[in-house]
Amino acid sequence: MADTLEVKGLSVGYARKGLALEDVSLSVPKGSIVALLGANGAGKTTLIRAVTGLLDLHHGHVTQGSVQFDGKSVLGMPSHRLVRMGMGLVPEGRLVFKQLTVEDNLSVGAAILPRSAVRERMDAVYTLFPRLLERRQQAAGWLSGGEQQMLALGRALVASPTLLLVDELSLGLAPLIVKAIYKQLLVVGETLGTSMLIVEQNARLALEFAATAYILDRGRIVLSGPSADVAASEAMKESYLGAKRESSASAA
Ligand SMILES: Nc1ncnc2c1ncn2[C@@H]1O[C@H](COP(=O)(O)OP(=O)(O)OP(=O)(O)O)[C@@H](O)[C@H]1O
Ligand SMILES: [Mg+2]
Repeated sequence: MADTLEVKGLSVGYARKGLALEDVSLSVPKGSIVALLGANGAGKTTLIRAVTGLLDLHHGHVTQGSVQFDGKSVLGMPSHRLVRMGMGLVPEGRLVFKQLTVEDNLSVGAAILPRSAVRERMDAVYTLFPRLLERRQQAAGWLSGGEQQMLALGRALVASPTLLLVDELSLGLAPLIVKAIYKQLLVVGETLGTSMLIVEQNARLALEFAATAYILDRGRIVLSGPSADVAASEAMKESYLGAKRESSASAA
């Protein structure tokens, strides 16, 4: 089966900076969760921007390579068009509309749907994240960090994207909340066939839920493969999973 997202040999630069991404190739198979891991400044957000048509906004530019979404070349397409083609983005920092209610935030995400489909899709999001239903008339700014992340995910998922891109899913959230969110994303993948590319700094959690993982280091993919293999690799253990510090605990 064709991959939902196929990035090939992608290099990206910013004005007055060298390359932020160099020859990056990555694919997201239909219905699966792919984790994109790496330290601060590795280029994770840059990759998301390149895929979602947001590079221009940040004065970045592609110097070579290609991005295919559902078999179509999409480099250079504006993000509003990509959203209509089925991309859903949860940006770094979540960026929910804090003054708007939960329901109105979801309405923003549902704006591209035919009117007759809106109620059903909203209810599907509330089923996925019942906390949002409890708080639907509250301003988003009053929600906890975990609830705001659920809302940001809901705002993207309400439009039934075929590809969901999440930048920093777990940042600042307690592991229990993050696990609960991942479990719901697995449900989404299984029931709707949604493909997901999830940027994470918390490698351990991401590797638990993602099928495959890619590690970015200073703009290059340095390791990739099935999550279990990536988690077991020595380089990964040492740099991201704290194996040295926790070697006694992991022997148990
Ligand atoms: N708008 C910009 N202009 C110039 N350089 C930028 C811009 N945005 C990012 N960079 C640089 O590109 C590199 C990659 O940054 P990017 O934000 O993609 O990393 P990241 O992996 O998302 O990091 P973090 O984990 O901190 O979010 C960094 O060196 C960063 O300083
Ligand atoms: Mg980032």
